[in-house]
Amino acid sequence: MSADLDALARSILKDNDLGGYTIPTKGLYPYQWNWDSIFVALGFATFDQDRALEEIESLFEGQWDDGMVPHILFRKDDPSYFPGPDAWGTSDRAMPSSGHSQPPVAATVVREIFESAGEGKLEARVRALFPKMMAWHRWFATYRDPQGHGSVAIIHPWESGRDNLPDWDAPMSAVDTTGIPAFTRKDTAHVDPEMRPRQIDYERYMAIVAAGRACGWNARKVTQASPFLVADPGITFILLRANRDLAALARRLGFDADLPEIEGWIAKLERGLERLWNPELGAHTTLDLKTGKLGQGVSSVAFLAPYAGVRDEAVLAPLRAHFDRIAGRVDYMVPSYDPDHQGFEHLRYWRGPVWAVVNFMIARGLTQAGDHTRAERVRADTARLVKHSGFAEYFSPVDGTGAGGKSFSWTAAVWLAWASPNPSQRAA
Ligand code: GLC
Repeated sequence: MSADLDALARSILKDNDLGGYTIPTKGLYPYQWNWDSIFVALGFATFDQDRALEEIESLFEGQWDDGMVPHILFRKDDPSYFPGPDAWGTSDRAMPSSGHSQPPVAATVVREIFESAGEGKLEARVRALFPKMMAWHRWFATYRDPQGHGSVAIIHPWESGRDNLPDWDAPMSAVDTTGIPAFTRKDTAHVDPEMRPRQIDYERYMAIVAAGRACGWNARKVTQASPFLVADPGITFILLRANRDLAALARRLGFDADLPEIEGWIAKLERGLERLWNPELGAHTTLDLKTGKLGQGVSSVAFLAPYAGVRDEAVLAPLRAHFDRIAGRVDYMVPSYDPDHQGFEHLRYWRGPVWAVVNFMIARGLTQAGDHTRAERVRADTARLVKHSGFAEYFSPVDGTGAGGKSFSWTAAVWLAWASPNPSQRAA
């Protein structure tokens, strides 16, 4: 059966490939998404390394002059999605796109593909990608740490990649929606509205887009003007990890002159994590930079601490306790939000469902920190979900129901790269 699933996963990637770039799924997400594409590259790498790198190269075609790599590239207009290029006010750009970024997983994945490709292969192409990844990481260091703490702030929930996490509710309630132009959502025509963000969330999402647009998406101005500015442990962990992988690439490829800058970013992010530690909870949480308030729930990204290289028992021991408590509450690990928290909803997007790509990163970190038992629990649960419900966008941690879009590229990709029991395709 898993061989059939491997074949199906490959056919999903090929089917969602629009020619050098891959969409997350037809209908709901008809454009190129940032971290989706990078995870997709991992899936392609299991059977076509050239195509894998092409996916990443195509994403960087949309990089802005300031270094930012947008969260969506609108390569050709598709009316099945809202908000498209007109709503972002970027239609006149050579490559219309959204105006903010997404979690930077590229350096980690590029390193992995490069190292598994074997001596010398892909080197020229990875060398060409290196300065682009440097510029993107520099953009985060320059524009997404406005208070200089070392943690990464997002200006829109979409920038975190976890659109409607309960921890965004409090900061989002301060976003004024007065005067935003009327709009028609398209997502709820593709997917059951109960599995999607609410209407009020969308109104606030669009109010933040309007604020960014009014600044012409000038990164410095946007950070000052956005009605939403929250430090995110997810993106902070992911960037910290990506910086370590970028440093490894720099050493391997001879970009030694860039090492001090990268090492400076690493040291700063390590310090920044301390501010995101919620001592009452025993986990890293969000921090609203406008009010100074920490988030109140254990979200799945708290378990990315080992992935980011954290080896401090004062962090890892409470995390293990949370993991075991939550594992006793749900059938499938790892829910995107704590099932013991009132904000938990098992089928609503990032308020509870399991996401295969987050599981992949969590398990990767656990393995590297030596916790093979919990890592294997996460992998086995991800495999059970796919066997139970196919390559869905996300899954209920309670009963394994597949939810959101179907034939989803990144779910297929991490199946191939990691969750499939076929050992030749295991990356972790
Ligand atoms: C949703 C997810 C985001 C993902 C995108 C495309 O917006 O929250 O993480 O990148 O869909 O799959």
